[in-house]
Amino acid sequence: MKNQLKTSINRRTFVKNGLTAAGAATVGGGLLATSSSAFAKKGSEEHSGRLTKGDAAILRFLAAAEILETDLWQQYNELGGIQDSEVPGGSGSVLYTAALAVLDADMAQYIHDNTEDELTHEVFINAFLASKGADTVNLDEFRTLASSKATGAQQIGRLTNLMQLTVDTSWWTRYRSGSKNPDFGDSFDQAVPSLNVGQHPAIPKTDDDLTPDDHIQAIANTAGFHFGTIEQGGTSLYPSLAQRVTDPDVLRIVLSIGPTEAMHFQTWSDKAGNARPLTDPKDSSLVFPDLNSPPFGGEEFQTNLIMPEPTIFLSRKLPACSIVRPTATKGAAMGAANFLTAMGLFIGQSSAFFELLRDLAEDADDAKRRSG
Ligand SMILES: [Fe+2]
Ligand SMILES: [Fe+2]
Repeated sequence: MKNQLKTSINRRTFVKNGLTAAGAATVGGGLLATSSSAFAKKGSEEHSGRLTKGDAAILRFLAAAEILETDLWQQYNELGGIQDSEVPGGSGSVLYTAALAVLDADMAQYIHDNTEDELTHEVFINAFLASKGADTVNLDEFRTLASSKATGAQQIGRLTNLMQLTVDTSWWTRYRSGSKNPDFGDSFDQAVPSLNVGQHPAIPKTDDDLTPDDHIQAIANTAGFHFGTIEQGGTSLYPSLAQRVTDPDVLRIVLSIGPTEAMHFQTWSDKAGNARPLTDPKDSSLVFPDLNSPPFGGEEFQTNLIMPEPTIFLSRKLPACSIVRPTATKGAAMGAANFLTAMGLFIGQSSAFFELLRDLAEDADDAKRRSG
């Protein structure tokens, strides 16, 4: 296992150095499951198969992002979703599920469906890469983080940590602003300022977190906003990367998966507005405000304003447009990696993990659309 980690750190080096180093990395295995034939062919140093180097890199970054999404959604589903043959694992937490249901009676179903969707994104993108003879992504050796100890969670190694989150809730005001756009350098107020500082659990860490009522509700509220934070990220990531895709089938993949992230985001954007205003009795710094009352309320906070407000796009000289934001393509993959890291999702991960995530993001951001 030690050797595997060591070789994975050097993935970028082996890609550049070609066959010899690549062979060594294959022995290490794990991260990039490479078919042996890919190494036999001269000129296949990038392991892109019949895809362009850029397309393969973009799809690999997206596969990694989807694997990470699946891992976090799986943890939510085990405790607060519906455990069935489509999304197996865990046995549910009655009190956490009930607290989530305060946001919407169908929360468990939505959590289940979002989890299943991410799993299919991950499996499909990797299968497509493999079908083109390109390297796929496998993060199994990084499934090392602890599970929740609350009743209902499986005790297995995880890729992501949902128990120390710092949740950026600025998407709430970003999509309600009619005059600002992050692609113009604008910044946005937080809907729940205290979620964006400190570290907060979005699932119960142990059964002690199930009481009192307002504490487990604070955890469910945190999850409710985190759902939106995650899915608005996917909503921006796909159109951002689509601009540098070359192959029509790869473009079709990113244009067909991306909007499902937007469907998730739209749902969560609606449900987060139902988070009950409260102060966490076990952490008085965590306050969920009434978003419909001063100093909140109005166009930027009112909870029924869940559709994107038209805003500036491309040029201030053009008319306002209802759009996904941001969608700038430069550095989009690294931006996504940094965004996930900053929310604390990977607290406890090894340096090899971060190195690989950076490598995958750098390669995706190096991709250029080829014409003709
Ligand atoms: Fe996804
Ligand atoms: Fe997603």
